Amino acid sequence: MFSAQTYINRRKRLQSDMGSGIILLPGNEDSPMNYTDNIFPFRQDSSFLYFAGIDRPGIHFIIDADNNREILFGDELTVEQIMWTGPVASLAAQAARAGITDIRPSSALADFLAQCIRHKQEVHFLQPYRGDLSIRLSAWLDIPVNQLADRVSVKLIKAIIAQRAVKTAEELEQIEIAVNTTIDMQLTAMELAAAGVTETEIAGRLQAVAIAAGGNISFPVILTANGQFLHNHAHPVPLQNGQLLLCDCGAENAMRYAGDLTRTHPVNKKFTTAQREIYDIVYNAYKAAADAIRPGIRFKDVHLLACEQLAAGLIALGLMKGNAREAVEAGAHTLFFPCGLGHMLGLDIHDMENLGEKYVGYTETFKQSTEFGLKSLRLGRELEEGFVFTIEPGIYFNPLLTASWQAAGKHASFINYDKLAAYQDFGGVRLEDNFVVTAGGGRLLGRPFARTAAEIEHLIAQ
Ligand code: GLY
Ligand code: MN
Ligand code: MN
Repeated sequence: MFSAQTYINRRKRLQSDMGSGIILLPGNEDSPMNYTDNIFPFRQDSSFLYFAGIDRPGIHFIIDADNNREILFGDELTVEQIMWTGPVASLAAQAARAGITDIRPSSALADFLAQCIRHKQEVHFLQPYRGDLSIRLSAWLDIPVNQLADRVSVKLIKAIIAQRAVKTAEELEQIEIAVNTTIDMQLTAMELAAAGVTETEIAGRLQAVAIAAGGNISFPVILTANGQFLHNHAHPVPLQNGQLLLCDCGAENAMRYAGDLTRTHPVNKKFTTAQREIYDIVYNAYKAAADAIRPGIRFKDVHLLACEQLAAGLIALGLMKGNAREAVEAGAHTLFFPCGLGHMLGLDIHDMENLGEKYVGYTETFKQSTEFGLKSLRLGRELEEGFVFTIEPGIYFNPLLTASWQAAGKHASFINYDKLAAYQDFGGVRLEDNFVVTAGGGRLLGRPFARTAAEIEHLIAQ
């Protein structure tokens, strides 16, 4: 945990930004896999962690801005529970470390909220993303489950995003720990990759690296020779020489901050000419985007700049034709890059995505596009100092998408479909790093790590 003062300051600002009402921040419960006592690894809600700091299941937090008080609802473990788990830190001690002193039994929360509602206090809550919380919220607030989404507090969403989007120095330290463990995961993938080894064998070892570092994976490992499918996971199939292995993985550190890196490398340690040509185009797009980072620039413009680099490279290679800017304006490049350049990163790998992309990545006056490609750009708005996000351009040769576009003659003036036939088994290349915005531009997070084709070949040759 950070110091108590960190959590106290965050809550003070949240209360002041909200001004009045009840701010309800439910913690997560343990979640059963296949029966009640067999549970998924516990993951606390990130906004709860951010403001209350306590990483254990079954506790809920209230900031009563009307009466300037904070209450934690939760129970100490009983002797019978500790019989199974062994001793754990007392809730009172954990709460004290977050500067919270008023603790009440969890059974008192329903009555507390009912009383708030009777007294016409406004209860601010976020959209639940777990079914069990939806049911509980519905009962606590007397709102049908299917109407919760209409009643969430946009004011609370915005107040939380305003704080969580700007990372402090102590948060950056934690994110860098996660990024450095993610580099260890990437190195493990490079060491293990060889013809005959299965994707799942490697993916399992990557998860072990993250767990051994004191945390866990920040999302299920994407490790595939079929990188043309954007979030394809690992399969129990052996790798083959000549394939490109795309590894997109992340560690979550002990404080639950995330890393998220992608490297793509040849299974037999040497890029073919065609692989190297595509890799270099992706690298150039990455570099152009990374160099463009500064406070005040719209991330959508950084995305479009990267898209133009991708299109220019593909035109030079003969896979596309015409003018790169016009091709991007028309959306022709989305055959190869159908997704967004990046997303915020923090306590969540897609930071705060549960609060709504339209609030996290966009504003009231600058809205997310609904066009193919741009609709998957999770971050579009102006960058501010302290924002942490990924830059992750790629080129993907998706034969299914290509066939459907070709059949429809889509963007035929920009795409050389006849030349694409040779790339139908190519796979995909993605390069992903994590950056923070500083006054002077983007600062790459984590220790130095290979990213150009030459650096990657040099590293895997060792
Ligand atoms: N790791 C998933 C992503 O890069 O968004
Ligand atoms: Mn990412
Ligand atoms: Mn990723």
